[in-house]
Amino acid sequence: MSAVVGQDHTPAMATIFARLASLALLLPFCFASPAASSSASLPGSTARVAGLNAVGKAAGKLYFGTATNANEFQDDAVYGAIINNTRQFGQITPANAMKWEYTEPNPGNFTFEDGDVIRDLARNNGQLLRGHNCVWYQQLPDWITNGTFTYHEMIDIVENHCGTLVGHYKGEVYAWDVINESLNDDGTFRENVFYNATGSDYIPAALRAARAADPHAKLYINDYGIEGTGNKSTALQNLVRELKSEGVPIDGVGIQCHLTVGQLPTGLLENFHDFGQLGVEFAVTELDMAIQGNVTADALEQQKQDYATVVSACLSVPACVGVTVWDFTDKYGWITNGHADIWDDNLQKKPAFDGVVLGFESH
Ligand code: G3I
Repeated sequence: MSAVVGQDHTPAMATIFARLASLALLLPFCFASPAASSSASLPGSTARVAGLNAVGKAAGKLYFGTATNANEFQDDAVYGAIINNTRQFGQITPANAMKWEYTEPNPGNFTFEDGDVIRDLARNNGQLLRGHNCVWYQQLPDWITNGTFTYHEMIDIVENHCGTLVGHYKGEVYAWDVINESLNDDGTFRENVFYNATGSDYIPAALRAARAADPHAKLYINDYGIEGTGNKSTALQNLVRELKSEGVPIDGVGIQCHLTVGQLPTGLLENFHDFGQLGVEFAVTELDMAIQGNVTADALEQQKQDYATVVSACLSVPACVGVTVWDFTDKYGWITNGHADIWDDNLQKKPAFDGVVLGFESH
């Protein structure tokens, strides 16, 4: 009986499947914008792909992700629909909500409400979460910035902050930027409030406290200015080797990649390969690409090529696990007037979107 039904219905089903297939082929054309609506003469994305995370995972990476702030997806439905689309984004980073000034505004007084909103977004969507960050010299509460602390007091403060923060999100964070921007451009240690009290000892203290609080989270040191070869990259690589040799828990390096269109650092690919030799993973953690000057068709095309170059460099090194953009739209990007992101002010895809696809499909 079922065989007869199957025979009777096979032609009809085939027709339906054929129609669905052709619809599926057409759908991406509906969503790919031919031109940025804010600047109708400029080209938009021509990509025919379903999503950047889907393409990145197909290329063998763990995720393609974005940073975000809660008001952006809570107040902006169009933005919300994009960030909730796991074919676009498989990973979320709080751009601000987990930083010290918000999570421990007064000594020992922790507030996780803002961070929890970002955590809930990732959790509800099944997206990986990167924690950002435990120890940074910016966005600190006044009690840290204006305080005077002995060596032991500061070690206790760092351990308590990292342990409590990482512990609150135990089991929910793929990787933590435990240490953020600890080096100067010449590769020496930055003389921040933590260094001034403890020398570089706050770094292993923070990493150990984070490991104890969540043994399964990957622990990263994250920095900018380490995209190309040079003193700072060498210094960070040496720091990772030293930490490893001393048995300090360190699992990864975040290469931020806040870059300028047409000015990619020299030795970027070689440098990514060097980081790949360290025996830890690494990730592009804060990618954006600021345009200097007018937003011309040429500038957008160069931006596309530069996005492709960075993503392709990650693709070529197995230790590079994924790429995160530091928000995905010029509407909310932190660089005023840089038009640094892959969707424009009107939440239309730019050529840079295609650049990410090109990068992931470059091998
Ligand atoms: O929280 C206050 C709010 O109370 C106030 O009403 C408002 C008025 O301007 O300011 C809010 O603080 C702002 C905060 O972002 C949250 O929106 C700060 O002024 C603003 O300076 C801050 O900027 C952040 C910046 O870090 C601080 O250095 C950016 O959003 C954030 O994207 C950026 O992220 C950093 C990474 O953490 C580390 N790597 C570099 C990257 C870009 O600078």
